[in-house]
Amino acid sequence: MHATTFLALALSATGVLGHGFITSPTPRLPGPNYLAACGTTISNTQEADKGGNIQDLLNKRDSGFDPAKCNLWLCKGYQAEAGAPVLGLRPGQVLPIQFDIRAPHTGTANMSVVDLKTNTVIGKELIYFADFASTHHTIPDSNRNFQVTIPDLGNKCAAAGDCTLQFYWDSREANQTYESCIDFTQSGSAAPAPAPEPTTTAEDAPAMTTPAMPPTVPTTPPVIPEAPPAPSPTSIDSAPSETTTPAAPIATPTTAPSTAGRDCTVLVPQCWAATQKCWDDSQAVFASKGVAAGQSAQAVCGKMAEGCQNLNCSWTLTGRKLRA
Ligand SMILES: *[C@@H]1O[C@H](CO)[C@@H](O)[C@H](O)[C@H]1NC(C)=O
Ligand SMILES: *[C@@H]1O[C@H](CO)[C@@H](O)[C@H](O)[C@H]1NC(C)=O
Ligand SMILES: *[C@@H]1O[C@H](CO)[C@@H](O)[C@H](O)[C@H]1NC(C)=O
Repeated sequence: MHATTFLALALSATGVLGHGFITSPTPRLPGPNYLAACGTTISNTQEADKGGNIQDLLNKRDSGFDPAKCNLWLCKGYQAEAGAPVLGLRPGQVLPIQFDIRAPHTGTANMSVVDLKTNTVIGKELIYFADFASTHHTIPDSNRNFQVTIPDLGNKCAAAGDCTLQFYWDSREANQTYESCIDFTQSGSAAPAPAPEPTTTAEDAPAMTTPAMPPTVPTTPPVIPEAPPAPSPTSIDSAPSETTTPAAPIATPTTAPSTAGRDCTVLVPQCWAATQKCWDDSQAVFASKGVAAGQSAQAVCGKMAEGCQNLNCSWTLTGRKLRA
């Protein structure tokens, strides 16, 4: 990518609100209970754009906002509404999710089982994205179409109102956080015996569109990758030829960054180009080596993206030079 293109992208991203929301399965939506709990201003804002961020809503609390009922940090304050769907999910079930990224903002994201009464996460997050909805490179389809494997939750989620699957996207680039929730129950939890081997059957994904994952994706839980040793920002900065990774064949910049002057207009685009290549390559890793390897590869790309963001650049139009 040319430096000018990169700069244009960076500038065009400024001031754009990030937006996003689950589109499938049907998530919690605004309704009369939301209006009653969170007030007219917040309710109207979300009716107009369900993808909007929590920080904006915090500024829109009006006299109708009831802090005892509206927790904006839990499902953005969305309530259980009459007639809204509550999925019944078996232990081991693979659930495809579709997420609509309407306006990107680089961040991290996860989907977790959340106890609705205490707003605490039960167990480990089901999926984690180290680099979600990036404004710096093509967003991989896996940010929009992914799947989670539902763990055995014992009796914790037996009744409607006990638990939700919360998608949590946090963008430090924008200081904005977005949440959307899928309400569910789980019965028939396996006793101490190990959960049955999850298998993909028609029952697993009734009437849902096929997730855009390679057909070789196994039905075992998508393991949250331990981030492999990642290339440090300084390795990208000063020694790009050593930028390697065990999981994905990541191309190194073909030309050495100019250390003379350490000019961000050269280094930053090279860094993002290498990150982009990493993402492209990680798609092939998904296809050839499966979900765990693919996610490990993507974790490396996420670290690379962090490295690019952490380059010591001062983003003024007059002199984009490394500080160090
Ligand atoms: C995952 O999401 C939960 C909210 O659902 C949040 O509290 C937690 O910090 C997130 N975890 C990570 C590692 O980002
Ligand atoms: C994000 O919010 C923090 C705390 O409110 C503030 O110090 C920081 O400048 C904000 N950053 C951006 C990019 O807006
Ligand atoms: C970036 O700047 C900080 C402080 O200004 C310095 O400690 C750090 O070593 C610098 N990093 C690089 C990669 O130059």
